[in-house]
Amino acid sequence: MNPVSSSSCDVLVLGAGIAGMTAALDAARGSSVVLATKTALGDGSTRWAQGGIAVATDGQDVAAHVADTLSAGAGLCDPRAVEAVCAAGPAALRALAGRGVEFDRAAGGGPALGLEAAHSRPRVLHAGGDRTGAAISAALAAAVRRSDVVVREDAFLVGLVVDAGRVVGADLLLRDASGAQTAHRVSAAAVVLATGGAGQVFSRTTNPAVATGDGLAAAWRAGAGIADLEMVQFHPTAAAVPQPFLVSEAVRGEGAVLLDAAGHRFMPAVDPRAELAPRDVVARATARAVAAHGGRPALLDATGLRPRTGSAFSRRFPGIAALCAAAGIDPDREPVPVTPAAHYLMGGVRTDVRGRTGVPGLWAAGEVACTGVHGANRLASNSLLEALVTGSRVATDVAAVAAGARDEPPGFTADEVVELPGPATARASHVARRDLRAALWEHAGLFRDAAGLEVATKLLTPEETPLELAGLPGADRRAHEDANLLLVARLLVTAAALRTESLGAHHREDHPETPGAPRRRTLRRTA
Ligand code: SIN
Repeated sequence: MNPVSSSSCDVLVLGAGIAGMTAALDAARGSSVVLATKTALGDGSTRWAQGGIAVATDGQDVAAHVADTLSAGAGLCDPRAVEAVCAAGPAALRALAGRGVEFDRAAGGGPALGLEAAHSRPRVLHAGGDRTGAAISAALAAAVRRSDVVVREDAFLVGLVVDAGRVVGADLLLRDASGAQTAHRVSAAAVVLATGGAGQVFSRTTNPAVATGDGLAAAWRAGAGIADLEMVQFHPTAAAVPQPFLVSEAVRGEGAVLLDAAGHRFMPAVDPRAELAPRDVVARATARAVAAHGGRPALLDATGLRPRTGSAFSRRFPGIAALCAAAGIDPDREPVPVTPAAHYLMGGVRTDVRGRTGVPGLWAAGEVACTGVHGANRLASNSLLEALVTGSRVATDVAAVAAGARDEPPGFTADEVVELPGPATARASHVARRDLRAALWEHAGLFRDAAGLEVATKLLTPEETPLELAGLPGADRRAHEDANLLLVARLLVTAAALRTESLGAHHREDHPETPGAPRRRTLRRTA
């Protein structure tokens, strides 16, 4: 890209969800900060979060929150990262409330706590019933607008600028009110990736359209390691309607049950925790129930909620109720048709809990990052917590480095490292987006095997093309997104093929065995 304009700052934050806005606000206490976001401020995946944010309810609950997170994570979590994030939760929540987020209160005046799958007790704070993400996004966006942070909206990340192995800025495509695009380079002493996930690689997803893995792809091209990308969380209950939407796990936490298309409740026979078993277990069981009925959706029956909670569905879950109403469904009176959908990337840019990536000058936080907190199966409502805590920690570490601390990259010595061939080749995606997404859903979705992954690999990787995509001089956003989706899809399928065992969300029909001591695996490109 040949930038036509340039600017500079101390800290460049890419992405404006909870991680990015928290990092920007904290960093702005002592540095000049630019926050660039692909759409409007606060318009990423955070805004769509429904269930809430998990946090230890008191000092004693921290150990239980750690234990629940490790147990759901199926042996792939980094225990130190889990402990750090769970322990920091209560203080981080107070800071978030201090920035204007008002969490729902119980009748007695204390916080209203929801229960979600695989939590041993209710500890999920919510706001606006099921509009937690929207409340957090709105409060943080308002705080950013009041601060000295310079905001660049509608700024698409084309690539990170690397000089002598160090990230020193980013190239952006800016779009003005008339729709015209111009290339702009921001130089920065520190670059923070908080660009969210890549759910759009799957044809069924709860993610917004912007989740095309742009940050993940940029980090790979810049030389960062990508860890555990095969670990994709599929949510069991996306509404099976023409405009699908998430139906929060909190609905099951309030007592809703899952039925197959014939009206039979199937979860108790699968797991003693029934509808509140870990998300991967419920998602696979739901997918099997759908398949067993010729593709007819499962049914989420919340009609019994009123007597159990003393509150009609629409009062506890106003956002979901509105979406259901638009689809012609009244959840107080009839079950909601549901199927699983891709929801969250547990893998991502390999970082430690300070957000250091291994490439000097580059930090990452939130869904784009892989700290090891989520392991092979994220505990419900831990994503907002992890993004909040690590967004803040990144800002602390960036400030420490600016003040003279050594910014040596973490070693990640316990990981198995797999090197994949480069070098970079500028090439547009050769696969139609629709075909890519369908192939990933079919062959790298809830049920995987070597033959299916091979079919996906062949589609994604014509023999003459190396794994890398970069550059695309003169391309528009859509072409960049397609290239990013292709790169992320290739990495994901490669990671899924390499893990010949079943673990958490990664289920291999041809390798059902679960390893005793699973290892994290980081993919890295050769220079
Ligand atoms: C949900 O509300 O079910 C989603 C929450 C999460 O992804 O943790």
